[in-house]
Amino acid sequence: MRKKLRIVLSGIGNRALPKKPESSNWLGWVELIRRSEDFQLVAAHDVSDLAIKRIIDRDYLRPEQTYKDLGRMLSETKPDALLVTNPPELHASAIRKALEYNLHLLVEKPFVKDLKEGRKLLDLIEQKGVVTAVVQNWRFKDVGRMLHDAIQNGMLGRVGHVFFRYIRNRENPTYPEYIFKEKLPLLYAMGIHHLDLFRYILKDEYKSVKGCSFKPPWTLYKSDTGINLFLKTKKGISVIYSGTISSTNKVLMQESLIIEGDKGTLVNEGQWLEPPLWFYPGGCKDGINLAEKIKNGSIPDQYNKSDEYILKDFYQAIVNKKEPLCTARDALESVAVLEASRLACETEDTVYLN
Ligand SMILES: NC(=O)c1ccc[n+]([C@@H]2O[C@H](COP(=O)([O-])OP(=O)(O)OC[C@H]3O[C@@H](n4cnc5c(N)ncnc54)[C@H](O)[C@@H]3O)[C@@H](O)[C@H]2O)c1
Repeated sequence: MRKKLRIVLSGIGNRALPKKPESSNWLGWVELIRRSEDFQLVAAHDVSDLAIKRIIDRDYLRPEQTYKDLGRMLSETKPDALLVTNPPELHASAIRKALEYNLHLLVEKPFVKDLKEGRKLLDLIEQKGVVTAVVQNWRFKDVGRMLHDAIQNGMLGRVGHVFFRYIRNRENPTYPEYIFKEKLPLLYAMGIHHLDLFRYILKDEYKSVKGCSFKPPWTLYKSDTGINLFLKTKKGISVIYSGTISSTNKVLMQESLIIEGDKGTLVNEGQWLEPPLWFYPGGCKDGINLAEKIKNGSIPDQYNKSDEYILKDFYQAIVNKKEPLCTARDALESVAVLEASRLACETEDTVYLN
C-alpha cells in the first residue's frame, strides 16, 4: 500500500466535523479524510475545548493529537499539509504560519478576507512553491461542471447576460456569534461561491461592478444582509446579482440562475446548485435536462462528491507537482471581486477591477 500524506487541520467547526451530522449538508473534511486513500489526519487545532472534545469523542483523534496552539502542532507533528477550516478572517495567519514549515495548503473559501494580505501571501506561496488549493466547491458540483462545459462547448452561443437571485433564511440565532458581526455576510459567505462560479463557467474576469446593499428590520445581523450588484465582464457579459440572507420563506428555492446566449437559455433552480440543469434552445418551448443522467443529485451527495474531488485533486497536485483545480492566484481574483463589490455597495459608485 502506498504511503498516505500526513495532513493536519485548523478549525474543527461545522465544515470539518458537522455539529449535527444527521442534518448536515456534508460529511465534513474529517470523515472524508478518514475514507481517503491519500491522506491521514494526524492532528487538529482549535481554540475551543468543545470543538476539540467533539473530534476526540467521535474517535477521530486521541487527546494527544489535538492542539490549542497552531505553531506547536505544526512543529511537533511534522505534517505534509495543512487544511484551513477556521473562520475566514483567520485564514491568512494560519497560512502564514504553515508557510514557515513549507506545508502544502488546502484552504476553505474565501482564500483570505483581505485582498492586500492575500497578495502578500501569494508572493510567499509562489516563492516557496508549495501547492495551495482553495475550496471553491460550486465549480465542482455536477451542475457547475455542466454549466462550464455547456458554455465552453458553445451550446449557448454568445453569452449575453447572467441573472442570479438568492433568497435565504440565515437568520438563525443558534449560529456562532461572529457570524452576526461580519461585514456584508451574504457577499463573503455565499457571493464568493456564486461570483467565483460565474468567472469559472464564463472563463472571463469582471471589469466593473456597481451596487447597493440593504437589510430588513427583523435582521439579527449588524451589517446589511442583502445586495444588488451589476457587474460587467471583460468580454462584455452583464451579470445581475441580487440576494438576501434575511428571507423568511421556506418554500422558494434559494438559488435561481438564468444564463442566456444567442442560441438559448440555461436555467438552474436549487438550494445549493443541485440538478436539474435545463437548457431551452432559442425559440423552443421544451427544455432538455442536461443533468438527467446524474445519479447522486441530492444536496449532501453533491457536496460530498465535489469535496472528494477537490481532496483527490489536492493530492494529485502535490504528488505530480502540478497546479490544483483552484490555485491561490485564481481564488484571489474572486476575493478581489468581493472587495470591489463591497466598495461599490459602500460608495454606490462604479468600481473598476484591475
Ligand atoms: N465550501 C463550503 O461550502 C463551505 C461551507 C461552510 C463554511 N465554509 C468555510 O469553512 C470555514 C469554516 O466554516 P465553519 O462553518 O466550519 O465555521 P464554524 O464556526 O462552524 O467553525 C469554525 C471553527 O474554527 C474555530 N476557531 C475559531 N478561532 C480559531 C483560531 N484562531 N484558530 C483555529 N480555530 C479557530 C472555532 O472554534 C470553530 O470550531 C470558513 O472559511 C467558511 O467560509 C465553506
